[in-house]
Amino acid sequence: MSEKIFTVRLAEAENAVEILDQTLLPNCIQYLRLETAEQLYEAIFELRVRGAPAIGVCAGYGMYVLAQKITGEFLPEFHRLGEYLISSRPTAVNLSHAVERMISCAEQNSSDPEQLLSALKAECTAICDEDKAMCRAISEYGLTLVKDGDGILTHCNAGALAAVEYGTGLGTLLLGKERGYNFHVFSDETRPLLQGARLTSFELNHAGIDVTLICDSAASMLMKQGKIQACFVGCDRVAANGDTANKIGTRSVAVNAKYHGIPFYVFCPSSTIDFSCNSGEDIVIEERSGEEIKSKFFAQPVAEPEVKCYNPAFDVTDAELITAIVTERGIARYPYTKSLKELFGG
Ligand code: MRU
Repeated sequence: MSEKIFTVRLAEAENAVEILDQTLLPNCIQYLRLETAEQLYEAIFELRVRGAPAIGVCAGYGMYVLAQKITGEFLPEFHRLGEYLISSRPTAVNLSHAVERMISCAEQNSSDPEQLLSALKAECTAICDEDKAMCRAISEYGLTLVKDGDGILTHCNAGALAAVEYGTGLGTLLLGKERGYNFHVFSDETRPLLQGARLTSFELNHAGIDVTLICDSAASMLMKQGKIQACFVGCDRVAANGDTANKIGTRSVAVNAKYHGIPFYVFCPSSTIDFSCNSGEDIVIEERSGEEIKSKFFAQPVAEPEVKCYNPAFDVTDAELITAIVTERGIARYPYTKSLKELFGG
């Protein structure tokens, strides 16, 4: 993304988290200052800041901002605020990972009030810096899987807007562009919140990458026509066996890719692996309002008010459907219980 646009950062005065309001993209670039727990919760819940790594970075900075305002007994209040933020979105594990890191840092430093805030500042800065480094390393590994001229199908948005720099699923494409690769990217629109249309095509277009927006339902036909050489997706929580929760519709892409013999790659920083989940059965799937399907991006509702909706925000792609999981430590292949353990010792 251009130097001028950022996804999430700590305000210079350290009294707020500043985010780009992604609900307004691509029509308006507007930043928000989040100073209270309620504002942080609302921004995450409403997807003003979204994408698993970006939510984690926002929560880390948010906990530091909130820590500075606690006047009573510190640790119980810090725990309460952390639980509150975690409850804003259940599926992306980066959120709870970041909050838990901040809480554990507070516990280790709570006996020394002088030290406490500087330790928390160092921890949230580390969460952000580690995310940048992980995305960069993932992008390097990703480049070993593709060649110049490949057609790549993306789902949702796993770029710099979903992280801090590069992103995961789009990082390879952005890094490849810097190195002179010419990819042909097909960004599926990703109903119902249109992250592919509003965010991925915006991000790639601004990076000068050849991107074509398609309806989700067109992907299978493009695969049959030989236009797609690989599918790239991010993830919100990866279980120990490789089952992967990501934006609703990811599993359809993976099933289609398998049928057409096209590699399906998941790009995954270690902050998104949850070894406490043995399989996808253990992953909680966020369910969102039916209004997102019926009316959110339409001038007029597209279904009658009494029509029932079911709007799971994520699905779980079975490990068997995933050609490889690309991490900052290397590329894991099926069976993932073994390969992820070898990379991360989980
Ligand atoms: O609901 P969202 O927009 O937060 O969902 C985001 C995704 O599903 C991304 O693919 C995932 O978080 C990976 S981002 C690097």
